[in-house]
Amino acid sequence: MTTTYPPSDELKSKAHVDAAKYDEMYARSISDPEGFWGDVAERIDWIKKPTKIKNTSFAPGNISIKWFEDGSLNVAANCIDRHLATRGDQTAIIWEPDDPEEAAQYITYKELHGSVSRMANVLKSLGVERGDRVIIYLPMIPEAAYAMLACARIGAIHSIVFAGFSPDALAARVQGCDAKVVITADEAPRGGRKTPLKTNADKALLHCDEDVKCLVVKRTGGQTTWVDGRDFDYNAMAAEASADCPPAEMNAEDPLFILYTSGSTGQPKGVVHSTGGYLTYAALTHEVTFDYHDGDVYWCTADVGWVTGHSYIVYGPLANGGITLMFEGVPTYPDASRFWQVCEKHKVNQFYTAPTAIRALMGQGEEFVTKCDLSDLRILGTVGEPINPEAWNWYNTVVGKGKCPIVDTWWQTETGGHLMTPLPGAHATKPGAAMKPFFGVQPVVLEPTTGEEIHEFPTEGVLAIKDSWPGQMRTVWGDHERFEKTYFADYKNYYFSGDGCRRDADGDYWITGRVDDVINVSGHRMGTAEVESALVAHEKVAEAAVVGYPHDIKGQGIYCYVTLMNGEEPSDDLRKELRTWVRTEIGPIASPDLIQWAPGLPKTRSGKIMRRILRKIAENDYGALGDTSTLADPSVVDDLIENRMNR
Ligand code: WTA
Repeated sequence: MTTTYPPSDELKSKAHVDAAKYDEMYARSISDPEGFWGDVAERIDWIKKPTKIKNTSFAPGNISIKWFEDGSLNVAANCIDRHLATRGDQTAIIWEPDDPEEAAQYITYKELHGSVSRMANVLKSLGVERGDRVIIYLPMIPEAAYAMLACARIGAIHSIVFAGFSPDALAARVQGCDAKVVITADEAPRGGRKTPLKTNADKALLHCDEDVKCLVVKRTGGQTTWVDGRDFDYNAMAAEASADCPPAEMNAEDPLFILYTSGSTGQPKGVVHSTGGYLTYAALTHEVTFDYHDGDVYWCTADVGWVTGHSYIVYGPLANGGITLMFEGVPTYPDASRFWQVCEKHKVNQFYTAPTAIRALMGQGEEFVTKCDLSDLRILGTVGEPINPEAWNWYNTVVGKGKCPIVDTWWQTETGGHLMTPLPGAHATKPGAAMKPFFGVQPVVLEPTTGEEIHEFPTEGVLAIKDSWPGQMRTVWGDHERFEKTYFADYKNYYFSGDGCRRDADGDYWITGRVDDVINVSGHRMGTAEVESALVAHEKVAEAAVVGYPHDIKGQGIYCYVTLMNGEEPSDDLRKELRTWVRTEIGPIASPDLIQWAPGLPKTRSGKIMRRILRKIAENDYGALGDTSTLADPSVVDDLIENRMNR
C-alpha cells in the first residue's frame, strides 16, 4: 500500500486551486480548450489580443501547432515593463553567488528594466535584428537573465548552451542555428572552481563563421585573450548604452528560443518554443504548481542552460511579477549545508530541485539541514528524473518537516512546462508519483507494440499525449520532418514522450523512465548515440555501444562497451584517455562511469546491436537476458558477462 499525503486544511483553503476547482478547471480545459485558454490568456499583456485560440493538428503528414496565432505581444514587456507601475521597487531577482562570502544581489524590476534595455541596445549595436539567433554561454549570473530578456525585447531568438558543455558542443550549436553573436563571460565560478568560458568560446569560434561576434561579460576579471573586431566588452558597452529600448511587437507564434536537447538518434536537436503559447503556459504552471502568491520568495536550483531554468527561473516567475532566486553555485560548496543556508538567508518559500541533488545531500547526514531555519518553506518540488521513495521521504520529513507538499513535476524540454504534477492544495501526494495531468493535458497509456490506447487501470505502457497544449514545442529548428519523425511517427495521432509510465488503481500516474536510448544522468538528459559517436571518433576505438545503468546518486550512470581497433591493447590508461576524450568532445556531464572492453558486441544477423542485452548486463541482471538465439554469435555474450564492470 502506498502511503498518501493529503494537503493540510490551511493549504486547501489558501491555495489558488483546491480539489474541486482542479476538477472543474480540468474538465473545462478538455471540453472547451478554446474557452479555457482564451480566459487564461487574459493574464498576458497582449499588444493585439488573440481571437484565434487553438489551431493544432497531430494528424500524420500535417503536424502543425499554433496557439493565439493572431495575437501579438512582447515577452520582455510581460516579464518587466508591465510590473513597473505596481512593483518597480520590488525585487525581481535575488542573485546568490557561488562564494557565500561574496555579496548577494537584489535586483528590482526597475533595475531589471534598465539592464535588459541596455543589453538589448548593445545587441542591436552588434547588428542583431529581429529573428536573428544569439547563443548565450554564461554562468548563472544576472546577465544570463538580462541576455534572455534582451533577446526577447528585440525579437531575437536565444539559444542557451549550458556552461558545462565543451567548445566542440558549443561550436555545433553556434553553427546549428547560424548564430550572429555568442554572449559569454571570462570565467564561470562553480563550487570554488572556475570554468574558462571565454577560452572555450575562443576554441569554439575557430570552427564557426568568421563574422560571428563575441560579447564578453566580466564575471571574475580573469585574464582572457582578445580578438579585436570580433570580441566586445559588454560592461563597457552597457555603461554607454541607452536604457531606453522599446519592446518589439512579436506575433504569438514567433520563436522565442531554441534549446538543444538530446534524443535517441543523431546529434542534439534544436527544440523551438513560441512566444505567446509558451509564456502563457510557463506563467500559469508556475503560479498553480508552486502555489505562488505575491511576495513569495521562490527558488529553482536549475541552471538556465536547461529548460527548467528557462521556464521556472526566468519566464514563468517574472511573468507573474514574482521574486526569483538565481544561484550560481552547487549544493555541496562550501559544504553540504549550502542549499539550506541559502533557504534560510533569503527566507525561501518554494524550493524546486532535482532528485540527484536530494540523493547526494541525503548521504551527508541530517545535521546539514537541521541546523538551518527552514520555517519559511511551504512547497517543495522535484524535476528531471523519477524520484525514489527513499529520497522523497527524506525530502518530505527532513527538509519539509512533513509540512510541505512535494510537487513531483513531470515534463520535458519539448513540453515547455509541467505536464503532470500534483497541485499542492488539491491533491494528496504519493512518494514517486507525478499524479495528475495539468490543465489541458490529456495523457494516454499506450500498449508499446500495437500503439493501442489502454483505458483500464491499473496498467503500464508508454506515455503519450492526445492533444496539444500551449507550451508545446513547435518544430525542430530547420527540420520539421525530424519533429514529425521523432514525436509523431511511432504512435500516430499522439505526441509520444519517450517515457514509460504506470497508472495505478486510483488513476494516478507514475513515470517509470525513458523507453528509448536517452539516459538521464544526474538529471541531465543525454543520448547514448552522442556518447557513442564521441567514442568512435577516437582513433583507437573501432566500435562502441553505450547504455545507462542504475546509479545511487546520479540516477543513471554511463556504461560504455568499447571494441578497440585491431592491435590496440586495453589498459587503465586508455580508459582514462577515453574518459577525458568524451569530456572534451561533449562536456564533463557526459563522462563515462564504466568502460568495458568488448572484443565483440551482441548483434543480430542483420548487424543490429541488441541493446536490450547490453542493458541487462550493465544492470548486473544477466540472469534475465531473454532469447539470445537470434544473435549472429551468441558466444560474445558470455565474454561480456564474464568481464562485466558493475558487480
Ligand atoms: C525525465 C526536464 C520522472 C523524463 C524538465 C523526461 C522525469 C526527461 C520527471 C526530460 C519527473 C523529467 N519524474 N521523470 N518528475 N521530470 N523527467 O528534457 O524521462 O531535460 O522525458 O526536461 O526527464 O528531460 P528534459
